[in-house]
Amino acid sequence: MKNLMDMAIKFLSWLLREIKKYKIASSVVIAFALVFLIVSILIGMPPIGYIVLTTFIAGPTLLYVYKNKDKSTTNTRLLLVFFAATVGTLIVIQAIPYGKNHTNPPINGEPAWSSPRTRELMVRACFGCHSNEVEYPSYASVAPISWMVQSHVDEGRSKVNYQEWNSGERGEDTIEVIQDGSMPPSFYTTFGRHPEAKLTQAEIAELIAGLKATPGFSEGD
Ligand code: HEC
Repeated sequence: MKNLMDMAIKFLSWLLREIKKYKIASSVVIAFALVFLIVSILIGMPPIGYIVLTTFIAGPTLLYVYKNKDKSTTNTRLLLVFFAATVGTLIVIQAIPYGKNHTNPPINGEPAWSSPRTRELMVRACFGCHSNEVEYPSYASVAPISWMVQSHVDEGRSKVNYQEWNSGERGEDTIEVIQDGSMPPSFYTTFGRHPEAKLTQAEIAELIAGLKATPGFSEGD
C-alpha cells in the first residue's frame, strides 16, 4: 500500500515536470481532454467510456514521453503522437462488440393505454430506452457513442420496460419521474437530439392524466 502511494507520488511529480517541459503540447492535450469531458457528460457517457479512451490514448502518449526522458522531444512530435494515439484508438475501439447489436427483443405486452394519445406521448418521450422497439440512430453504430446508447437502453429496460408488460412489469414511478422532469434524462435531448421527446407543459399534463387512467401506473393498481 505504501509502495503504491510512493509510486503514485513519483509518477505525478514526473508528470508535472514533463507538463512544464512541454507547455504547448500539454495545453493542447488538456484543452482536448476538457472538451471531451464536457461533451461526454452532456451526452451521458458511461464511466467505462472514459476509462477505455483515457487508457488507450494516454498509455502510448505517456510511454513516448517516458522513452524520450533523456533525449527530450518537441511539442510538435508529442502532439503528433497524441493525435495518432487518438485516431488509432477511435479505429481500434470499433472492433469492440459491445453496443453493436441493435436487434430488439420480442414485445411481450403493453399496458392497456387509456387512449392512443397516451401511448403516442409515451412512445415519443420514453420508448427510446424503455421499450423493445428502440430505434437506433445511425451514430449509434460508432463507438464510443454506441456504448453510451447501449448502456442507456440496457439500464432503462432493466428499470422498466413498457413492452414487457406480460412479464409483470409495473410503472409505479412513471408519473413521478415525468412530473419531476427527471425523465427523459436531460442528456437525451442535448445538442438538438430527439426533439420529439421534449414534451411541452401541456403535453406533460395530458400524458399524466392519460397515465392516471391507465391501469398499472397508480399506487395500489
Ligand atoms: C435516454 C434513455 C431514456 C429515456 C428516453 C427515458 N429513460 Fe427512463 N431511465 C433511463 C435510465 C438510464 C434509467 C436508470 C437510471 C436513472 O434512474 O436515472 C431510467 C430510469 C427510469 C425509471 C426508474 C426511476 C427510478 O427511480 O428507479 C422510470 C420510472 C423511468 N425511467 C421512466 C421513464 C419515462 C416515463 C420516460 C419518458 C417520459 C423515460 N423514462 C425516458 C433511460 C431513459
